[in-house]
Amino acid sequence: MTHAIGITDISAATTSLFFSLTSLAEAQGTSPGKYLRGIGQHEMSVPGDDEDIVTLAARAAAPIVERHGTKEIRTLVLATETGIDQSKAAGIYVHELLGLEHNARVVELKEACYSATAALQFALGIVARNPDEKVLVIASDIARYELDSSGEATQGAGALAMLVSADPAIMAIEPASGLFTENVHDFWRPNDRTTALVDGRFSVTVYLRAVTEAYDDYVRGGGAEFSSIARMCFHQPFTKMAAKAMQTLAKHAGAQSVASAVSSLEETMIHNRRLGNTYTASVYMGLLSLLENAELGAGERIGIFSYGSGAVAEFFAGTLVEGYREHVRPGALTAQLDARREIAYEEYRERHIRADRTGDYETRAEGKGPFRLAGVRESIRVYEKA
Ligand code: HMG
Repeated sequence: MTHAIGITDISAATTSLFFSLTSLAEAQGTSPGKYLRGIGQHEMSVPGDDEDIVTLAARAAAPIVERHGTKEIRTLVLATETGIDQSKAAGIYVHELLGLEHNARVVELKEACYSATAALQFALGIVARNPDEKVLVIASDIARYELDSSGEATQGAGALAMLVSADPAIMAIEPASGLFTENVHDFWRPNDRTTALVDGRFSVTVYLRAVTEAYDDYVRGGGAEFSSIARMCFHQPFTKMAAKAMQTLAKHAGAQSVASAVSSLEETMIHNRRLGNTYTASVYMGLLSLLENAELGAGERIGIFSYGSGAVAEFFAGTLVEGYREHVRPGALTAQLDARREIAYEEYRERHIRADRTGDYETRAEGKGPFRLAGVRESIRVYEKA
């Protein structure tokens, strides 16, 4: 018997602080319009002293584990480009914080912002082999660029967890996938750096090329026609990037109205405009925003374009399941976004510099989530329940 396989639960988390892009523009002497309208970003989430990709990932996944229990979750895949260790998978700390079973596998995946999609594809494969198992996929990142760089306005932070199972309650993922890989240096972070190196304008060009390349591969492999895809979610390093991507794709695919295709993205941008770039989680934050805010019916097809600099891209689609809205916890992420404390420019800069500290340290209790990083002791990261 073949089962539909896909996303049966989805939940997201963000940090306890935020910095407004109006404040950034004022401090730089730039017009706020460049950020608010030019790149389509209003705020960026900033981590508290005791928040990192582990506490964010566990905070995102905790409601899923509470709802579904631990017994059937035999795999946890954590996608990130904000690695905390060169060897050990960050997901092992998350596994412990969530109280998952010892009889489980845990692994970390990396390819810039793309790797959550690889994690999702791996999860679909595992469930296809063992339909009684569920796979917890978590994307967790803190996007950091150098102070005073062009990328600074596109920083952000957040995590998104998805539970993948047979007979999913939210979205069944279809088998067709369009792929694209090319060795480019549009954005990368060598091992000796805590902030990314980026060729900003070039990265936009590569992203847009990857959209049409991955989409064409999707169509060649039996993917659905553009006109039968009800809505699309694009990776959103900044929300305006998704609009540029849709404009390019809609023209390429011969859409009847490019303008209405672009305006159909609005509901995918509500969370990202306030989070900033959440790297691996970003495209799925767009999906969550769409699921919460759009009126869509069972069977409607959602296209997903995932892009990771370097570069790897994938275009695929899923169909919504009857009653999907009852499973998405509307308002939960908005409540976290609203609860963040705003920080001023001086504090934002101090924190940016402090985040580069190394060696052993103790953290200040600032996070609003259920888990915190207590400190680093003898080179071991110590996490605890808040
Ligand atoms: P910039 O070069 O400083 O900005 O930074 P700009 O001069 O291109 O202006 C941006 C837009 O604002 C332009 O609109 C301006 O016209 C407009 P566009 O021409 O693009 O449509 N503008 C205004 N609009 C209204 N009122 C005003 C005003 N002033 C200007 N007053 C850049 C832009 C993207 C280069 C920068 O933000 C950057 O370097 N970001 C980081 C890299 C990035 O996000 N790249 C995106 C593609 S790569 C990707 O998505 C992967 C990534 O997520 C990493 C990963 O995979 O891990 C980044």
